[in-house]
Amino acid sequence: MSDAALDVVEFLLTTSVYSDDRTLDENDLPPSYRRVFWTGGVENDGDDDDESGRTPAGISRPLSVTTTTAREATDVSRPWEAVSDLMFTERDEFSGTITLAQQGMAEKWFAERVDDDRLRENPTLVKHFAEHEEFGETFDVTHEEAREQNRPIQADRVWIDGLLEEYFDEEEDEEMLDLVEVRAPEEVDMSLNDLVLTEDQENELDKISKAIEHRDYLSNIGLREIGKLLFVGPPGTGKTSTAQALAQDMDLPFVEVKLSMITSQYLGETAKNVDKTFEVAKRLSPCILFIDEFDFVAKTRSSDEHAALKRAVNTLLKSIDNISLIEDDVLLIGATNHPDQLDDAAWRRFDEIINFPKPDNDMRADILSLITRRMEIDEFDPQLIAEATQGLTGSDLRMVLREAVLEALTEDRTTLTQEDLLNAVEEFEERDTLKNMDMMGGDHDALVAGGDLGKASDGGEPSGHSHDHDHDHDHDH
Ligand SMILES: Nc1ncnc2c1ncn2[C@@H]1O[C@H](COP(=O)(O)OP(=O)(O)OP(=O)(O)O)[C@@H](O)[C@H]1O
Ligand SMILES: [Mg+2]
Repeated sequence: MSDAALDVVEFLLTTSVYSDDRTLDENDLPPSYRRVFWTGGVENDGDDDDESGRTPAGISRPLSVTTTTAREATDVSRPWEAVSDLMFTERDEFSGTITLAQQGMAEKWFAERVDDDRLRENPTLVKHFAEHEEFGETFDVTHEEAREQNRPIQADRVWIDGLLEEYFDEEEDEEMLDLVEVRAPEEVDMSLNDLVLTEDQENELDKISKAIEHRDYLSNIGLREIGKLLFVGPPGTGKTSTAQALAQDMDLPFVEVKLSMITSQYLGETAKNVDKTFEVAKRLSPCILFIDEFDFVAKTRSSDEHAALKRAVNTLLKSIDNISLIEDDVLLIGATNHPDQLDDAAWRRFDEIINFPKPDNDMRADILSLITRRMEIDEFDPQLIAEATQGLTGSDLRMVLREAVLEALTEDRTTLTQEDLLNAVEEFEERDTLKNMDMMGGDHDALVAGGDLGKASDGGEPSGHSHDHDHDHDHDH
């Protein structure tokens, strides 16, 4: 009997048990199943529409299995053929539904073929088997642990889409969707395991995940000024990645605001759209609201900007005041490369400032080991490369590695050497120097006269590869 049969029988059993047991909710269904049955937000002609003509988001019982739903949920291309030989399955030729004629037989058949690890991924069946004495001893899995391991519905794209569609008019709110991007944790491709963090950063992130876990307690004791973080540091030091990784590791939707999209283009609507962004976040909560380029706020306030733009920014600041981790379940994370440009008004809205410095020697070595973990490199000495890459960020190191890999590929090699890496570092240095020249603008003369391109980056050090701008960014604020 093939795995396909097992997959389809599991689906049939699960839908049947779920339909009967009303104490189960969507978080008892594996994500691939509930995706198939989740409805919400979409225009719908069925009779359970509410006034807006839209179905409220959710999963309605009973769950019926057709060839189509079974195929989508299990990835088995011919689900009926996979189980048609079994004595306990049945198909209605007319409606195309597949059912269990003898659920008891199906349960026994399934229980004989499944192990703890597989069962643990299906809270519905874990509960069912635990409640039936004849299976009491068969499995060593509790309902609670299965639910805990199962991804919550809020992490599913369908859930997010359902909510957004329910709430926003696609055409009318098109501008607003330029301003904000919502990603489901299942779509975020970044985990804290992919990042090398400083001890400081780790402690702060620990603190915040504890705070999230114990929101009720904090609310009870009246501690509300928690849950607004500002990530501060030069480009490429992992600010965005860390915020995304938090979303993935905590299974929270990631709502990103792109402040640079608040441009004169949409002036009339901007304040309204900022408001809406925060509404989105509250609707999707618990979630992470990430506001990148936060220095934009200060720049706008201080400069001679259009009044409507200033209004938008003031709306933003007010919205930030009115949102709370404790009351709204929204964790706010701001990020900036230019902390020096933030004015007090912006600065004081955050209760924790987390510094993202350029990585030091040891960190660079760790980052190098991490990002090369699936590569083959002869005579690889991360410590040595770390020493040769002073002043480079995590992002720079990734670029160096990419260059080395591509370079080796031109010689049809998929095994790199330490030499390849060193060459790529050198290449990167040249690139970086050009970039800095461009940025230096007024200092152009000094650059040319000095003849030593290494000076481009910090104007002083004789070493050809010092790009250490740390003193520009990383001092205490
Ligand atoms: N400490 C680190 N450990 C591992 N990878 C890192 C680290 N810092 C940066 N990177 C990698 O560099 C890339 C860029 O990082 P990211 O976009 O998070 O930087 P950023 O601080 O948000 O930059 P910017 O200020 O330009 O937005 C990502 O692929 C990230 O994985
Ligand atoms: Mg970023």
